[in-house]
Amino acid sequence: MLTPSKSNVATLFIKPDKNRLFLSYNRAMHIREATDLDLNDVLLVERLAFGQDKEAELVRVLLSDPSAKPFLSLLAFKDDKAVGHILFTTARLTKTQNTALISILAPLAIVPDFQKQGIGGRLIERGLQLLSKSGVDLVFVLGHPEYYPRYGFKPAGYLGFEAPYSIPDEHADAWMVQALRPGVIGSVSGTIMCADALNKPEYWRE
Ligand SMILES: CC(C)(COP(=O)(O)OP(=O)(O)OC[C@H]1O[C@@H](n2cnc3c(N)ncnc32)[C@H](O)[C@@H]1OP(=O)(O)O)[C@@H](O)C(=O)NCCC(=O)NCCS
Repeated sequence: MLTPSKSNVATLFIKPDKNRLFLSYNRAMHIREATDLDLNDVLLVERLAFGQDKEAELVRVLLSDPSAKPFLSLLAFKDDKAVGHILFTTARLTKTQNTALISILAPLAIVPDFQKQGIGGRLIERGLQLLSKSGVDLVFVLGHPEYYPRYGFKPAGYLGFEAPYSIPDEHADAWMVQALRPGVIGSVSGTIMCADALNKPEYWRE
């Protein structure tokens, strides 16, 4: 029998037609930091979400790239099955005297059967909370411009932040930023230098 824990919540109810007791385990989703032992789960989630190997391979290389550290790698589980993954890697500002602690969100992946259940949003929110606690000032993402603004991201180019590779005008809104410290936007600007593994033109084309 299952023991209720923080990852599963037991609900006792009586099924009216048969007047019998049933135990239903509505196991909540939970999120935790991924460890080295989770690598296969992480790569599988990436492959299933994107339907190809490219992003899984990027994640594999980023996780062992010293220039990506410190990184934040979070896995979302449902019924103890890994269904979502998000990775934030370190970046820095160049071509400026400004300093700020910077992170890039790439990639975010939810297994197709578990999409549109809020899991992507929960991973973003948890990631931003943890990064904020560790003193990160700015988080960037190159992604769907209709999706990330739901979680506080704004177009970054207009705010003075250039991507590692120039983004064509028609996709300018896909390069986004979110400040985790009040006042940081407007006081710093510059070009973002990402981790070596991510620093390839193919990752910066929409
Ligand atoms: C994009 C993705 C991460 C969203 O995760 P998710 O858990 O399904 O998203 P959430 O449940 O938090 O949010 C769902 C909402 O986002 C919208 N949404 C999902 N993908 C979207 C996209 N590509 N563009 C715009 N909106 C999108 C859904 O339509 C839904 O809208 P609704 O609430 O109005 O119904 C997920 O669909 C995924 O892994 N896709 C494949 C890989 C990918 O594209 N990753 C992102 C790279 S930038």
